[in-house]
Amino acid sequence: MNYGAITLVLFSVMVSSAAEDPSLRLENLRCEYLVNPSAVDEKQPRLSWELRSEERGQKQTAYQVLVASTPEKLASNGGDLWDSGRIAATQSAHVIYRGRELTSRQRCYWKVRVWDGHGKASDWSAPASWTMGLLRREDWDPARWISDPDDREAPAWGRQERERATSEPKAAVMLRKEFDIERPLRRATLYVTARGNYEVRINGERVSDEVLAPEWTEFEYRIQYRAHDVTNLLRQDGNAIGVLLGEGWYAGWYGSPRPPNPTGHFMELLLRLEIELEDGATQTIVTDGTWKSTIDGPITSTGHYVGEIYDARKEMRGWDTPGFDASAWNDVVVNEALGDQAIVAQPNDPIRITETVAPIGLREHAPGVYILDMGQNMSGQVRVRVRGPAGTRIHLHHGERLDDEGSVYTRNLRHAENQRNIYIKDTDDEEVYQPHFTYQGFRYVQMTGFADEPTLDDFVGLRIHSDAPRVGWFESSNSLINQLMENIHRTQTNNMHSVITDCPQRNERFGWLGDGQIFSQTSIYFHDMAAFYTKWLCDIRDNQKPDGRYTEFSPRASFRHMDTWRTAASGWADAGVILPWRVYQNYGDKRLLERHYDSAKRYVDFLDRTFPDRIKRGDKYGDWVNGDTVRLAGKPNVPVGVPKDVYATAFFAHSTDLVSRMARVLGRDNEAQHYETLFREIAEAYNREFVDEDGRIQGDTQAGYALALQFDLLPESIQPRAAAHLVEAIVKYNGHLSTGIQGTFRAMHALTRYDFHDEAYRLINLREFPSWGYMIEQGATSIWERWDGYVAGRGFATPTMNSFNHPAFGAVGEWVWQHLAGIGFDEASPGYEHIVLRPLPAGDLTWVKARYHSIRGPIVSEWSIDDGRLTYRVSIPPGTTATVYLPPIVDVQTIRESGQPVADAIGVTALNGDESVFHIDSGAYTFTADVR
Ligand code: BGC
Repeated sequence: MNYGAITLVLFSVMVSSAAEDPSLRLENLRCEYLVNPSAVDEKQPRLSWELRSEERGQKQTAYQVLVASTPEKLASNGGDLWDSGRIAATQSAHVIYRGRELTSRQRCYWKVRVWDGHGKASDWSAPASWTMGLLRREDWDPARWISDPDDREAPAWGRQERERATSEPKAAVMLRKEFDIERPLRRATLYVTARGNYEVRINGERVSDEVLAPEWTEFEYRIQYRAHDVTNLLRQDGNAIGVLLGEGWYAGWYGSPRPPNPTGHFMELLLRLEIELEDGATQTIVTDGTWKSTIDGPITSTGHYVGEIYDARKEMRGWDTPGFDASAWNDVVVNEALGDQAIVAQPNDPIRITETVAPIGLREHAPGVYILDMGQNMSGQVRVRVRGPAGTRIHLHHGERLDDEGSVYTRNLRHAENQRNIYIKDTDDEEVYQPHFTYQGFRYVQMTGFADEPTLDDFVGLRIHSDAPRVGWFESSNSLINQLMENIHRTQTNNMHSVITDCPQRNERFGWLGDGQIFSQTSIYFHDMAAFYTKWLCDIRDNQKPDGRYTEFSPRASFRHMDTWRTAASGWADAGVILPWRVYQNYGDKRLLERHYDSAKRYVDFLDRTFPDRIKRGDKYGDWVNGDTVRLAGKPNVPVGVPKDVYATAFFAHSTDLVSRMARVLGRDNEAQHYETLFREIAEAYNREFVDEDGRIQGDTQAGYALALQFDLLPESIQPRAAAHLVEAIVKYNGHLSTGIQGTFRAMHALTRYDFHDEAYRLINLREFPSWGYMIEQGATSIWERWDGYVAGRGFATPTMNSFNHPAFGAVGEWVWQHLAGIGFDEASPGYEHIVLRPLPAGDLTWVKARYHSIRGPIVSEWSIDDGRLTYRVSIPPGTTATVYLPPIVDVQTIRESGQPVADAIGVTALNGDESVFHIDSGAYTFTADVR
């Protein structure tokens, strides 16, 4: 769903509201963050809605929710499952269902009405729905996991990191079953998951537009299923289900070589098709011994990392429709055990093809070698139209950059080889190929094997990522920052594949927690990430060690020693504490905090036990890819990496601080007290050991100051000194940032917080190396892993670690949102109940237009300075309030709201005698003032 259009329309109505409609309207009804979800596992799901009104100060004072078992009952206002009655409450998000106990498959139709600030009832909302999932394990009976006997024997590609069993991923498994429907049907629901990735077809049609399902989870503990309504695909007589399986995350190179599948390297399918007949009976088709399978289909090799080989000559026409002769296929192997892992409804938005991209260039690089340019570094696939005689074999090699010879640069892909797809033609006619179980990170495609010259319109780029709704739009007078924000957003979507991956191209693509933690706030500004992080936090908890350590990435990959290493690295493991806190701040999700709190506490307790003198000594990564890793002649010759103990202790303190705040929110005051004390002890130890009375922190590094300031470790009296040292350290580094991924965005925030906002603005505008602008000068359309990924005159950084599609340095997006757009949350009032609007113009910036669709509805923040006059237009949804900080540059005597003195404006109150800070009620406002 796209909130953009809604917000635009809303804004124009709000600012031009001649005829005001004071009543409240209700929109965007969601259940557990999703719109009309088809499988919900929560026994008491939470319901959310948004309010709309053109009247200032409008709010909900009470609500009534009706939940009915049929649409008809709901339409006649019968809430046979739940009628909440009139509940006096302002709550419009996370309202807990408190009706009759819900059972598996139960359909729930709901609507809501509210009473406004005048006590007037709204109309009922449009109806919405949710359907319960399969809540008990027995609900799957008698379905069992089935697999193909040949696939079980076939060696997988690269079983372990250093043991590559074969040079190709496995062939796809094809499975099929035919059936008739006994009597006329009313409705049919398909429940499906796989160990691997699946594509399900019924009577020749795909059952959904989702790809790469099921997604990556900690498979030893948890695997996700989906439910699809397939009523329209079925007919009375003669039906066929055909399923393709690819290695996916489960059985691929970095899959899970663990129980319940003893090798982890063959694929299995679990499926139930429930057909409700018109007479009320149910007919069920399940995966069992009656299915047939083969690995002898056209997808002769397919894996996320390496790509796919599709030999169209091996296509079996009609394999997914009734009447196909499958006598040469195998009988499937039935796994009698459902396994120990939980089979859970997917709580997050699925992965889809979200956008098509038209390439911008095609050239013949060498005889018969063509290079396609997508115009952007993207992740997904290319769909290609191919001409030429049967047997024509085309190769598509994907890469992010061109090398000095103009070839596609692939050395940085490491063992992901050339990210190549190969297609072999079946006929002499034109054919179209689109891969199935792979995705690539690329801007360029180097192609060979065409029988005739390809043309640009033979190719379509398909962007593939988790389809969480877009919620944030930013635009300003500064084209460099606009480009940066576009690149950050693109890099985010390029790396949203059920976890935030570090990169989408090389043989890694992991859910690195350090990167995820850093980037989380930025990601939340661009997309509704609530459901996404809810899911990822399950993986993170699943992975936590019994002693409390969090891992460095989650889900695990098939490293052999995952249990004894890759844990507790500062800044990475701390994501287990930072991430749920972020989600809580942005979405007000208290249940998530409740569920996560013990886990976060166990991590801090582990640190507490392990580092009794309150200094966390030594660390693994530190401020990763900081200036010390840059190899470049002439760069300032000073060590810039923050000393490991200084770095690690700062995170120890920060996680402790956040756990104490979580405890406070959850009303666990004794524990809050305990962790507050621990935090103070760590901060004291930190100051004693690392900080002198002039605020100088051991190592004198930019990152050291940034972390200490942002984590509130320093006594107030020396904070300004420390901030000044941060600036001096920037001067020493030729006026550039020398920080790595953990320090960079925190340094930007610290500069703004301590009155060096212009300096932060200068840094974001730099175009010389190292800087974001330098990347853009080199043609970047995404964010790089390293400041020196490519340096003119020197060339590429080491290919062993040099991605051009890495979200981490894009975390500066958060700084842009909060300080240039001025949209921020109030920690004391989470979920945007109270909003902080505080734009800070700087340098040559003359306007910003930003919109963020929060959990409570759209927030607009638009400012401009024109001819010595500031105009600041804001709007916030009903039921919220905001503090508006007009920038310090305005002449307070001249401040007006919608042309009137502020004292006369409805909904505006000056705060604490400060003449440029106002409290506003919900609604749209236009502030103007002369600039001093
Ligand atoms: C990843 C990083 C990650 C790091 C851990 C790299 O290979 O790409 O982004 O955080 O390893 O140090």
